[in-house]
Amino acid sequence: MFGTLIFVLFTISTWASAPSGPWDAFNYAPKSTVVWPTAVYHVEGAVDGANSLVENRGAATLAGSGAWLALDFGVEVGGLISMNFLNPSSTVSIALSFTESPLFISPLTSDDSSYPASNMSYDGVLNVPSPLPSGFWTQPSFALRGGFRYLTIVSNSNEPLTISNVSCAILFMPHVDNLGNYAGYFYAEDPVFHDADFLTKLWYSGAYTVQTNTVPLDTGREVPFVTSPGWENNATLGVAGPIIVDGAKRDRAVWPGDMGIAVPTQFVSTNDLLPTKNALSTMFAAIDPITGALPESGPPLSQTGSDTYHAWTLIGTHNYYLYSGDMMWLQTVWTNYTKAVQFLENKVDSSGLMNVTGLRDWARLGGGGHNSEGNALLYKVLTNSVDLATYMNASDLVSAWARNASSLKQVFNQAFWDPNQEMYRDNTSTTLCPQDANSMSVIFNLTTSPGQADAISAGLQRNWNDLGPVAPELPDTISPFISGLELQAHFQSGNDDRAMDLLHREWGYMLYTNLSVQSTLLEGFTANGSLYYRGYRGYNYDASYTSHSHGWSSGPTSALTYYVLGLTVTSPQGKTWSVAPHLSGLNAAEGGFTTPLGWYGVKWRDEGNVFMLDVNVPTGTSGVVRLPYAEGKVEINGFSAGSIGDVINLNGGHKTTITLYR
Ligand SMILES: *[C@@H]1O[C@H](CO)[C@@H](O)[C@H](O)[C@H]1NC(C)=O
Ligand SMILES: *[C@@H]1O[C@H](CO)[C@@H](O)[C@H](O)[C@H]1NC(C)=O
Ligand SMILES: *[C@@H]1O[C@H](CO)[C@@H](O)[C@H](O)[C@H]1NC(C)=O
Ligand SMILES: *[C@@H]1O[C@H](CO)[C@@H](O)[C@H](O)[C@H]1NC(C)=O
Ligand SMILES: *[C@@H]1O[C@H](CO)[C@@H](O)[C@H](O)[C@H]1NC(C)=O
Ligand SMILES: *[C@@H]1O[C@H](CO)[C@@H](O)[C@H](O)[C@H]1NC(C)=O
Ligand SMILES: *[C@@H]1O[C@H](CO)[C@@H](O)[C@H](O)[C@H]1NC(C)=O
Ligand SMILES: *[C@@H]1O[C@H](CO)[C@@H](O)[C@H](O)[C@H]1NC(C)=O
Ligand SMILES: *[C@@H]1O[C@H](CO)[C@@H](O)[C@H](O)[C@H]1NC(C)=O
Ligand SMILES: *[C@@H]1O[C@H](CO)[C@@H](O)[C@H](O)[C@H]1NC(C)=O
Ligand SMILES: *[C@@H]1O[C@H](CO)[C@@H](O)[C@H](O)[C@H]1NC(C)=O
Repeated sequence: MFGTLIFVLFTISTWASAPSGPWDAFNYAPKSTVVWPTAVYHVEGAVDGANSLVENRGAATLAGSGAWLALDFGVEVGGLISMNFLNPSSTVSIALSFTESPLFISPLTSDDSSYPASNMSYDGVLNVPSPLPSGFWTQPSFALRGGFRYLTIVSNSNEPLTISNVSCAILFMPHVDNLGNYAGYFYAEDPVFHDADFLTKLWYSGAYTVQTNTVPLDTGREVPFVTSPGWENNATLGVAGPIIVDGAKRDRAVWPGDMGIAVPTQFVSTNDLLPTKNALSTMFAAIDPITGALPESGPPLSQTGSDTYHAWTLIGTHNYYLYSGDMMWLQTVWTNYTKAVQFLENKVDSSGLMNVTGLRDWARLGGGGHNSEGNALLYKVLTNSVDLATYMNASDLVSAWARNASSLKQVFNQAFWDPNQEMYRDNTSTTLCPQDANSMSVIFNLTTSPGQADAISAGLQRNWNDLGPVAPELPDTISPFISGLELQAHFQSGNDDRAMDLLHREWGYMLYTNLSVQSTLLEGFTANGSLYYRGYRGYNYDASYTSHSHGWSSGPTSALTYYVLGLTVTSPQGKTWSVAPHLSGLNAAEGGFTTPLGWYGVKWRDEGNVFMLDVNVPTGTSGVVRLPYAEGKVEINGFSAGSIGDVINLNGGHKTTITLYR
């Protein structure tokens, strides 16, 4: 009995973890849920022993009004600050300020999270007024900062104050003890970039970004926004927690568009899908019972009037079901899901296209009427819905949605394809070819030939500068959200070198620039690399408002797994799967992920005349392997399989080694 019990526990714990290896060194997740500063970034005025606060080595004294020090936690963190006050006099007081970027370290204000203001001083500081308690003190939970790297401590009085044990209790991923215990991994050396570990770092950066966006239910940004100065992060975010939000510092609300990128990241890294289920349930619970419209964002923002974000909730439903196989949940939301599909279908007019009237979106301009992005999303909703209806045995819906999807694809190509530019137009009365719809058309399979997809990939590159694509539909802006879709479009159309080039430019900039937190991923930036993202489009020229940890920017994490490893699931939980490596100029890559069915691992090495591939997938699963070369002699586990071409059917249950001699 006892032996059996131990065996069972052992089995469960190995399921939760990816194999360990050199890639673990690149995991950004803190080793414990309490962290201490790793460095002193700056000291001003009379501060004694600041370095003692690093890793909690001892005490420091601030003597004199205006003395301050800025501590560095090394990476993006989020949570509540604690410290010890050693025998404070009754009149001494201090203030704390927080920032993600080192640009906004200041004794007078934090970076902004409540509201964007051009003075970049909306949030202000957290005052800890006198009398300070003697001994251990913890920041009040309403004043949580969800994302920061630098903490500034300012003395506001002339008497000296001695402090010690300055720490941050991490508040994201509250349901997980070991934040670094991932269910997946990725490892590859980059032969051309200045940092050979770039791709591995980037994979982990995306994963950690989404972890910092996974938060307790009652830690949303307060709406209406608090009056300046100040911030409050104690609003309720949905029907259950933990829950996935758009960003660590802000908005701290559910945003279904963001989830279109963040959830695949979550699946391949932590496989922690509960926060996604809670976010989707929150959106369906808030459906308009009359029209079937879904909100654009979760509570307390609860914005409405976005046809595209409505579509993203439906796309998120398919993602969640595909990754989790959670049929019980799908059945719970099915009535509302079908109603929400019909809401979009009701906007299709006699032209056969949807007339987009809910104009809110990812910040892009235009977007109304017979718009290509909206219709591309509708097409994806319909093809996904065919898949879901098949699992639900809803055969009438399978055929109706399939019919409508196929006619939409035809009309889409007639209405939007511009043969001169060889790209899709934004709508029927413009020549502007947007980054979003063109990227989506390739990955959602709206293109009708490989040549068309190839032309779009080339066309998208015409928007690039040194730092990435400047979106025609949002001038002066580089959007890592939409670029995450573009990245997939280059891989999907077979333009792997272009995909790598994009990774190097855009994510290479974000991960290494000293304007950023250099650990998690920026929400966006301007064409010249500044933080004035959306300055003219809702963010009031407040560069400090931009989030440095936004899950929607983590597209490379799933793209490296899905394309470079080539490993994807093709039915719920990976009962069927596909392996199709994209070599992308690399010599080798390895990694994998875990589903409730077990571990899925891929490891490949390309030596020019020999290509070797290990596939390790669970018993009871089956899939298709597509080799990157069409010709050669193939051996499977050392036995000749002859010249079987580049497609091999495999069953899971044992490690299979495929060797191709060219
Ligand atoms: C970033 O690096 C540049 C160039 O080395 C330097 O001038 C600038 O002061 C640095 N900025 C910060 C915030 O560290
Ligand atoms: C230091 O801070 C940690 C984390 O907040 C706390 O658990 C610990 O009790 C503190 N130690 C002392 C000596 O106050
Ligand atoms: C900054 O601007 C906001 C919004 O206009 C205002 O409420 C706030 O008082 C200003 N802060 C400072 C320090 O001027
Ligand atoms: C958040 O905290 C503030 C300050 O304590 C309080 O006034 C407010 O009512 C709280 N909001 C919620 C939703 O609990
Ligand atoms: C479905 O929509 C209704 C409103 O029409 C709502 O009351 C209900 O909670 C929703 N069900 C789910 C499971 O979201
Ligand atoms: C059509 O697209 C152009 C370019 O994006 C845009 O300026 C215009 O507003 C769009 N039309 C509508 C009805 O949205
Ligand atoms: C879309 O619907 C709006 C609102 O009903 C209407 O004003 C507009 O003309 C329609 N657009 C097209 C292209 O039919
Ligand atoms: C659909 O039908 C299959 C085959 O009869 C059955 O195994 C499955 O449980 C059904 N699914 C649902 C959601 O009813
Ligand atoms: C299919 O398209 C037709 C015509 O636009 C529409 O009336 C119908 O509601 C759609 N069917 C479904 C199941 O969405
Ligand atoms: C893409 O669409 C075409 C029909 O237009 C279909 O034959 C093909 O199977 C689709 N490809 C995928 C991967 O779904
Ligand atoms: C970068 O772009 C922003 C936004 O357009 C602008 O405000 C800023 O002046 C530019 N910076 C430089 C150095 O050109």
